[in-house]
Amino acid sequence: MIIAQITDTHIKSDGRLAYRKVDTMACLKACVDHLNALAPAPDVVVMSGDMTDFGTADEYTIARSLLDRLAMPYFVVPGNHDARDAMRTAFSDHSYLPADGFLHYAVEDYPVRLIGLDSTLPGQPYGEMCDARLTWLGETLDEETRKPTLLFMHHPPFLTGVAHMDRQNCRNAKAMGALIERHTQVQMILCGHVHRPAQTLWHGTLACIGPSPSHAVALDLSPDGPPAFIQEPPACRIVHLTEDKRLVADLTYIGSFDGPHPFFNADGSLID
Ligand SMILES: [Fe+2]
Repeated sequence: MIIAQITDTHIKSDGRLAYRKVDTMACLKACVDHLNALAPAPDVVVMSGDMTDFGTADEYTIARSLLDRLAMPYFVVPGNHDARDAMRTAFSDHSYLPADGFLHYAVEDYPVRLIGLDSTLPGQPYGEMCDARLTWLGETLDEETRKPTLLFMHHPPFLTGVAHMDRQNCRNAKAMGALIERHTQVQMILCGHVHRPAQTLWHGTLACIGPSPSHAVALDLSPDGPPAFIQEPPACRIVHLTEDKRLVADLTYIGSFDGPHPFFNADGSLID
């Protein structure tokens, strides 16, 4: 099974550029084309939030028109730039989304169990795993303890060293970590928010942040680094399940690159 992660696409309406610089619509279109052209193709796509820039109905209409071009099913959770109810309305035919409350759910149809978590707090840039969400997560994880499981959520529960983003990560992460430690089937957590391909070992699982297909948060590890973005090469996280049932995280870069070229001659000798 192959899972692609798209995150932090920040789609705007009326052809406007994000931060007056980034054509996020063109970036998402290129991302979808790229994923559709991968061989073998991903089986599913998870969208880990900040699909839109301001959470308006118009932005969701545009985002959806682009995401619906994906050749494979996709699953969405909100980020802090989204609006939970506008997202629910825009994806009302996505039957995995609950009719009210948090936008979280488990997808049981694949060799990897996918759990989408809603980490958002309306009006706040930071996220939270409150008691109600932790109860739901604990009960959901208890339902199936053997299948390799992948969680995806917007706000990372770990520190990245990018100080202005760490101030708005997922609160109550310690309690979530204790829960994850008790559920060793959780092989990986995919997050967004920081627009960078960062990963760390966290409470016995691999916690990753996916890159954005449009713009990156600048890598500034100084304690007082200003919020800033940089247009580094756009990319997507790719996760696949190996024969021995381990999840492996990779990246695929969006663009045209020279290659692939063979290592070997037709007679099997290494090209010199
Ligand atoms: Fe974002």
